[in-house]
Amino acid sequence: MATIMNGKELAKKIRENLKKDCEELKKQGIHPKLAVIMVGNNAASKVYVKSKSKACDEIGIEYEEYFLEETICQEELNQLIKSLNNKREVNGILLQSPLPKHLDINRAFKTISYRKDVDGFTPSSVGKLVMGGDTFISCTPYGVMKMFEEYHIDLTGKEVVIIGRSNIVGKPLAQCCLANNATVTICHSRTKDLKEHTKRADIVIAAIGKAKFVTKDMLKEGVVIIDVGINRNEEGKIVGDVDFENVEKIASYITPVPGGVGPMTIAMLMNNVIKAAKEQNKEDSIF
Ligand code: GUN
Repeated sequence: MATIMNGKELAKKIRENLKKDCEELKKQGIHPKLAVIMVGNNAASKVYVKSKSKACDEIGIEYEEYFLEETICQEELNQLIKSLNNKREVNGILLQSPLPKHLDINRAFKTISYRKDVDGFTPSSVGKLVMGGDTFISCTPYGVMKMFEEYHIDLTGKEVVIIGRSNIVGKPLAQCCLANNATVTICHSRTKDLKEHTKRADIVIAAIGKAKFVTKDMLKEGVVIIDVGINRNEEGKIVGDVDFENVEKIASYITPVPGGVGPMTIAMLMNNVIKAAKEQNKEDSIF
């Protein structure tokens, strides 16, 4: 039976420490603040944004929300981002994705100052991640790395197979694993024989967005399973990308859904906001 990697507990511990950090900063007159921009009415995004504001409240991070009309044009969005870049009291800027189709998300991300890029999505942050500089790491990959650390899972020399090549999860996660000396393969919808890759993996990270996509027959005994998926099954229950009940029987470690990677993503966002507030108030800032 696998050890269940409890992201909910670890995230709670991280948030408690951040709350203390935030109190310390406030004693120095620094009031960490996150600005969140959401465009349109995406139901899932509304849920994410709400949980982010709740986490900020709990830690003591100030929070501003900008809900923009679905019909806003690129220039208006970019202008808002620029005004937040220039607002001294705002330490972090988060543009919730996805955006309506007529907007170019990469143009918008590029407009966010790398000093306030708490999501780690700007070209500067991604470039520094690839080249090994200190930067904001995007929150889901960062959360996964913290879970490896907590459970003493050493990536050195391990075969890591990531399923999914998104800019938010797959690609930055591959860089994080590489930086920790793993041998990394990124698989995706055009991969010819997925099972051939997953079967030899010591660690499989699933970020596909399809319920029960990863099954026991695709894996070797003792594999570590990280499930990044958040899907709803036929009964409306939240489930991951992995067939948990069966895979758990052969895995050494596995993350549950809910209660695995999800809470870690938010905890690491909070971590990045506190880091941003500290860095922006340092004389010898690395940013
Ligand atoms: N949409 C889905 N996940 C995320 C995230 O982590 N950050 C942002 N900005 N948008 C998202």
